[in-house]
Amino acid sequence: MADEQSGQIVNVMKESRLFPPPAEFAAKARIGSAEAYEQLWNEAAKDIEGFWGKMADELHWFKPFEKVLQWDEPFAQWFAGGQTNVSYNCLDAHLGTPRANKAALVWEGEPGDSRVLTYQMLHREVCKFANVLKKLGIQKGDVVALYMPMVPELAIAMLACARIGAVHSVVFGGFSAEAIADRNNDASAKLQITADGGWRRGKQLPLKETVDEALAKSPTVEKCVVLNRIGCEVSMQEGRDFWWHELMEEASADCPAEPMDSEAPLFILYTSGSTGKPKGIKHTTAGYNLYAKKTTEWVFDVRDEDVYWCTADIGWITGHSYIVYGPLTAGVTSLMYEGAPNWPDEGRFWEIIEKYRVNIFYTAPTAIRAFIKWGDQWVEKCDLSSLRLLGTVGEGINPEAWMWYHEKIGGGRCPIVDTWWQTETGGIMMTPLPGATATKPGSCCKPLPGIIPEIVGEDRKPVPTGSGGWLTITQPWPAMLRGIWGDDERYQAQYWADVPGKYLCGDNARCDEDGYYWIMGRIDDVLNVSGHRLSTIEIESALVSHPAVAEAAAVGRPHDLKGEAVAVFVTVASDFEPGEELRKELKLHVRKEIGALAVPDDIRFTNALPKTRSGKIMRRLLRDIAAGRQTVGDTTTLEDYSVLAKLRQDED
Ligand code: WTA
Repeated sequence: MADEQSGQIVNVMKESRLFPPPAEFAAKARIGSAEAYEQLWNEAAKDIEGFWGKMADELHWFKPFEKVLQWDEPFAQWFAGGQTNVSYNCLDAHLGTPRANKAALVWEGEPGDSRVLTYQMLHREVCKFANVLKKLGIQKGDVVALYMPMVPELAIAMLACARIGAVHSVVFGGFSAEAIADRNNDASAKLQITADGGWRRGKQLPLKETVDEALAKSPTVEKCVVLNRIGCEVSMQEGRDFWWHELMEEASADCPAEPMDSEAPLFILYTSGSTGKPKGIKHTTAGYNLYAKKTTEWVFDVRDEDVYWCTADIGWITGHSYIVYGPLTAGVTSLMYEGAPNWPDEGRFWEIIEKYRVNIFYTAPTAIRAFIKWGDQWVEKCDLSSLRLLGTVGEGINPEAWMWYHEKIGGGRCPIVDTWWQTETGGIMMTPLPGATATKPGSCCKPLPGIIPEIVGEDRKPVPTGSGGWLTITQPWPAMLRGIWGDDERYQAQYWADVPGKYLCGDNARCDEDGYYWIMGRIDDVLNVSGHRLSTIEIESALVSHPAVAEAAAVGRPHDLKGEAVAVFVTVASDFEPGEELRKELKLHVRKEIGALAVPDDIRFTNALPKTRSGKIMRRLLRDIAAGRQTVGDTTTLEDYSVLAKLRQDED
C-alpha cells in the first residue's frame, strides 16, 4: 500500500475476469491480434512523425503539407503548410465512389418520423447551406453559434461551416439563455443558428425563445437562422431572424470546399471547468480530422455494410467526433436519434436497434445504469441480434454494469470498447481494440497507436506498476486541443504547468502488470482517508456490485481523525427498500469487496444524483452536501436543479 508522500493512490479494485476478442470478430478486424496492435503501437512510438505522416495520405490535400509536426510546447502544429477541408473529406471524397448513394445519416425523430440522407444528398444540402452562410456575410474565421435539437440540419450546419472555413461553436440544446450568451460573448460569435423548438420526452422545448433571451445579451451576434422543426409559435425579429427553409429555397447547390490551412480552427467546444468560467476548447482542421477518421476505423472497426449508432448528443465532443466527423470521413452510415431513451417508453433504444438493424452501438455508462434500473423486460422484447460491437464513453464503467451490458445487450458475443478520452483530446486515447485486446471489465485497456501515457506521482516521477497517480500524455497527438479560446495562459496553466513537458489530463489512473490502464476518477475527486488515497470509482464499483444499488457516488468529507471520511450517495434498485438494514449490509459489502479502509462512514439514499447534462456525476456538489457546506462553484452545467434541493432537504 502506498503512502501519502509519494502521491500514489491505493488500488483496491479486484477484477480478474478476462474476455478475449471473439475469433470470428478478430478474423475480419482491421487490427486482428494483440501482436498486430503491439507492432503498430511500437511503430508509432518509435517515429511519431513518420507514423502520422504516412496516415495523412488518407485525407484529401489541396496543397501537401511541409512538416508533420512542429512542437513548441505547449503549442502544436500538425501538417503545417498543407491545405485540406474537413467537409471535403466527409463528403466530396465519397462522391464518384460506390459510397455516393450510400446512407450517410439515418435519422430518427422522437415522434417517430425518420429521414435518410445519402452522401450525395448530404453533400447537396451542405453546399446549399454553405452558400446561405456566405450570403449572410459569414467569412473564413467567423464564429457561428449553434443551438439545435438533434436533427440532420445540425450536422449540415457544422459541415457547411467547415466547408467555407467558419468556426462552429455548438452549445448543447439543454443549456440556459445565460450559458448561451456567455459562450457567444467569449467566442465573439457572429451568427446564431437554432430551431423553433425541439422534442424531449414528448414535450416541446422552446429553443428559439431561449435564444431570443440569449441574443439580447450577445452583442456580437448579428443574425439568426431558425429551422422549423416542430412548428411552434415563435417571434421573428425583422432584419435579424431568417427561416432556414426560406434561405435554402434560393441557395445554389454549387459551393466548392474552401482550401483550409491544416491549423485553421474548425470548432470551439465549451467544457465546464471545475470552478467558474467554462473553457472554450479549440480544435483545428487536419490533425483532428485524420485522428477522428483513424480512431473510428480502429476502435469501431466499421465496415461499409454497418449501421453505426452513437447515442451522444452532438452538443458534446463525442457527437462531434463520433457522430459527424469520424464516421463521415470513414464513409460510415451514422445513425442519429433526436430524443430521450425512455420515450414513449423505456424500450425506445432497443426498438431503434431492431428497426435499423444497428451493428455498432456506442453509449454512456450513465445510460447503461439507467437501463439496468428500468429492467430487462424492455431489452428482452426486441431483437438485438444485429449488434456486433458495443462501446462506452464518458465515465468509468463499473464492472457489474459492464457485465450486464455484455450479457443483456451484447448477447455475450459482442466485444465492448471502453473508450477513455476527453473534449480536450479530440478523439479516443485509450481503449480496447475489438479484434485485438482481451478486455477486463472496468479497464479502458491500452493506449492507441501514437498515444504514450505515463502515470506520475505528486513528485512528478513515474509511479511503480499497479500504483495510482496522475495520468499524463508524453507526446503530442494530431487531435489534441490547440488551446483555450482566447486564453493561452489558462491553457498553459491548466494542462502543461504541473508536470513539465507532459499533458496533464486531470484524471487519476493506474496501470496493471499486463499494461492495462484503469481510470480512477478526476484528480480533484480523490479521497484521502487516514493518509491513504482512494479513488471514487473503486468505492462506487464495489457498491454497484451489490444487487440493491442502481447507482452510487463516493466523496470525502472532512473528518477530525481520518482527514476525510467516506460519504456515499446511493440510488436503490427498483425491488429494494432503503433503510437501516440495507445501510448495514452495504457497509459489510464494501468491507468484503475492498476492505475496512473504504467502508463508508455515511450512506445516504437518494432518488437521483446530481449530474452534468452529459451524464457525469457532479461529485463536487456532493462534497459540499456531505460537508454541510453551501455550494459556491459553478452549477450552470447541472442537469436538474431539483436534485440538489432534494438532497439538501433529505439532510434535514
Ligand atoms: C471521464 C468525453 C473513465 C474522464 C469524451 C475524462 C472516463 C472526462 C472515460 C472527459 C472512460 C471519459 N473511463 N472515465 N472510458 N471516458 N471519462 O470532456 O474523467 O466530456 O477526463 O469527454 O470524462 O469528459 P468529456
